[in-house]
Amino acid sequence: APSDPDLVARARAAKERLGDRVFVLGHHYQRDEVIEFADVTGDSFKLAREAAARPEAEYIVFCGVHFMAESADILTSPAQQVVLPDLAAGCSMADMATAEQVAECWDVLTDAGVAETTVPVSYMNSSADIKAFTGRHGGTICTSSNAERALDWAFQQGEKVLFLPDQHLGRNTAVRDMGLSLDDCVVYNPHKPGGGLTPEQLRDAKMILWRGHCSVHGRFSLDSVREVRERIPGVRVLVHPECKHEVVSAADEVGSTEYIIKALEAAPRGSKWAVGTELNLVRRLANRFAEEDKEIVFLDRTVCFCSTMNRIDLPHLVWALESLADGTVVNRIEVDAETEKFAKTALERMLALP
Ligand code: 13P
Ligand code: SF4
Repeated sequence: APSDPDLVARARAAKERLGDRVFVLGHHYQRDEVIEFADVTGDSFKLAREAAARPEAEYIVFCGVHFMAESADILTSPAQQVVLPDLAAGCSMADMATAEQVAECWDVLTDAGVAETTVPVSYMNSSADIKAFTGRHGGTICTSSNAERALDWAFQQGEKVLFLPDQHLGRNTAVRDMGLSLDDCVVYNPHKPGGGLTPEQLRDAKMILWRGHCSVHGRFSLDSVREVRERIPGVRVLVHPECKHEVVSAADEVGSTEYIIKALEAAPRGSKWAVGTELNLVRRLANRFAEEDKEIVFLDRTVCFCSTMNRIDLPHLVWALESLADGTVVNRIEVDAETEKFAKTALERMLALP
């Protein structure tokens, strides 16, 4: 549905009143009505870099989810304030690893005698606490666009990797890009004593995968790949690495949201694509490339939007911008100094990856 013209006018007016004092970042999974007001759009890696590169902006309005706004706060100067237009925009995957659970896991690894040779690698989609844990234990953050480089680096520092919290991105990167086998990977279940693993299993493993997943990407199935190949002969299947290993193995191409956009930009006229990532992005791409005669369909019509990404809508954005223009900072995301220090170490290691 087209955006409410009154709200569009109010968003424009508030942004104009704020001028250079505000910078709006929009993740690719955001609604069209929000993307329209983003000064920059990107995947989580690009947005982290963009946030760090805007020292002149007093306010960063982050249209995305909570962990992204936390990362922006960590990477910006203390004088800059990061605003998340709806505090309920969390991420179910990030919630699957709490600080207590991860501390307990490290104790399990220590008891098995493997902690010393294990390097934590945490996906950007994690809380600042988990990033701080990662920094404290010599590890790095990664995103879906640099996971291979992060693992390469980690295996130069130690013998094993503890990969948090997305088991699929961890497994897919280890097996597809690093040449490890599925047998080199074990899954640590935080809801079971000892993670549900024996000390021997921990000692034999190269990749210890946290039992977390994305509730959106985890729903694409091998059946959806088979079905679309039957329905659309010649279709190329392009998926995000948060999908299950069997889905990624059956796909033609795999990559982050930024990669997916670039692949479709480079695709020849007349090509057909089934895309397995968040629906807002797939719809936007389908509309954009229809003019170039590229047919883009959603990989599985039963999968829906990321409900937390969708929490950020035009009314929330207008409210945040108008409040800032009136001198009130609402929904500020602020990471405490101690957490920030170690989380920043981990994030800076990622930004320094070759
Ligand atoms: P990227 O933008 O890094 O591809 O991540 C996708 C995602 O799930 C963000 O929540
Ligand atoms: Fe989290 Fe998945 Fe939504 Fe990304 S798409 S914010 S990983 S739930």
